[in-house]
Amino acid sequence: MEVAQKTWDPQRAAFVKGGGTVWDGMAYDPELNLLYVGTGNGAPYDQRKRSPAGGDNLYLSSILAINPDTGRLVWHYQTTPGDIWDFTAVQKMIQADLVINGRQRKVLMQAPKNGFFYVLDRATGELLSAKNYSYVNWASHVDMKTGRPAVTKQGDYYTGPKLLYPSWSGAHSWQPMAFNPKTNLVYIPVIDIPNFWVDMPNSGGKLKFVNGFFTTAGITPDGAFDAKTLKPLFGTLPDLKQIKAPRPGALVREVLRAWDPVKQKVVWEQETSNGYRSYDGGVLTTAGNLVFQGRGDGDFVVYAADTGKQLKRINTGSTIMAAPMTYSVNGTQYVAVQTGYGGTAIVTPISPKSAAATRVNENRILVFKLDGDEVPKPPLRNDEPFPSPPKSDATPEQIKSGEIKFNQHCAQCHVFSPNVTPDLRRISEGVHQNFKEIVLRGQRAFMGMGRFDDVLTENDADEIHAYLISEQANAYNLEHKQEEKLKQRASKH
Ligand code: HEC
Repeated sequence: MEVAQKTWDPQRAAFVKGGGTVWDGMAYDPELNLLYVGTGNGAPYDQRKRSPAGGDNLYLSSILAINPDTGRLVWHYQTTPGDIWDFTAVQKMIQADLVINGRQRKVLMQAPKNGFFYVLDRATGELLSAKNYSYVNWASHVDMKTGRPAVTKQGDYYTGPKLLYPSWSGAHSWQPMAFNPKTNLVYIPVIDIPNFWVDMPNSGGKLKFVNGFFTTAGITPDGAFDAKTLKPLFGTLPDLKQIKAPRPGALVREVLRAWDPVKQKVVWEQETSNGYRSYDGGVLTTAGNLVFQGRGDGDFVVYAADTGKQLKRINTGSTIMAAPMTYSVNGTQYVAVQTGYGGTAIVTPISPKSAAATRVNENRILVFKLDGDEVPKPPLRNDEPFPSPPKSDATPEQIKSGEIKFNQHCAQCHVFSPNVTPDLRRISEGVHQNFKEIVLRGQRAFMGMGRFDDVLTENDADEIHAYLISEQANAYNLEHKQEEKLKQRASKH
């Protein structure tokens, strides 16, 4: 079996000149016989490269209503014309019957990445409301006459690095939101975090540009918004006035929000993270006035759907990213949820507060019922020490070149920290020997590590290998130094 491997390559993407991928759930109304499809962001992000003449770039970041018999477009609504912020409109759409201004409407609701909650008439595509459900600063509001967002000066990062809310992870992404027809509320897992958007080549060399990465980058900060904390990111003390200070309060939050789609306001909210990116899961709501959500820290939490009161909190020891589901067998109702850390989270190191940082990341299906047993927890992580690196006679130039190629082809999946995919500073003697078989000829393709011989030469693979050996040596030496220090300290006492 051969697994086709396509890697993200900015140069290739520049040729694609598009984007608009449909990567989340669609919706279908059998009565109206309409299929609703949400489309993705522009790619590459830089519209000047993608579409030098500018324009709205229809049908990127749009909701399309299609007649499935003919394939013809019946109506469309574009949430983010001329997208440059990775603001997809693929997020799952919910159909409901709502009374708006005294009129019963068949609506379609979406909370796309751009931070505005859209209520559309799903027969005609008429925009009924578009209010921000999360903090946004890239646009001030949506003009109800034109349906277009009013982009702010802050939203224009071509003039200099800007801190923008929401981030490219969206104020809401694939984690399913849920609508409860009894409370008439939508429960949204909100990702209230910003990005520094930077036009890399024009950043005046001020920003630490990782060669091989995107030329237009959105970098998610954590920690504090002050020049000193941000220095490592920018390479020098950044000019905060130009980036602009964010809203007061924590920079990075995740919250579960109960949103009233008619009154367009938050009815209750629960903070689910404490100032870090927790990768919380999707939401389930039931007729019994309950809302269920799993979290990055391993807690499975049950709330009252009308008030948001926390009713139950069960620690599972596993990161939960998926949405729960419910079913009943012989009169007993069960709630099931899949656990495990992964997805796009693997491009960054695991947060120390995540369950996956302390316990083995086991992919499990947990099933709950009233008066069920304790949840068994996975064992604690026990990371082996770094293996000693093999000898290498690579030159500093080869190592540097390998670093760039690593960033281009490997860093989307492999980070230098514990994660779902192997930390390549920890590879064994055997893997070192088989490095090119694995990387170029697909020896591990059946495990998800595809072959790269369509984009890398033997020499490229050697340079990447040289870079990894040098990183392994650094980590190994650091660990040994620390161990020596501990030993010396122990012998003194
Ligand atoms: C699309 C994701 C993805 C990309 C991109 C990727 N890898 Fe992997 N890689 C994996 C996965 C998944 C595994 C684990 C396979 C397994 O369990 O053996 C893996 C395993 C490996 C291993 C074996 C590690 C070990 O200790 O067993 C090596 C070596 C490796 N990758 C090198 C690379 C290099 C070099 C690149 C860039 C040219 C790269 N990978 C790009 C997903 C990826």
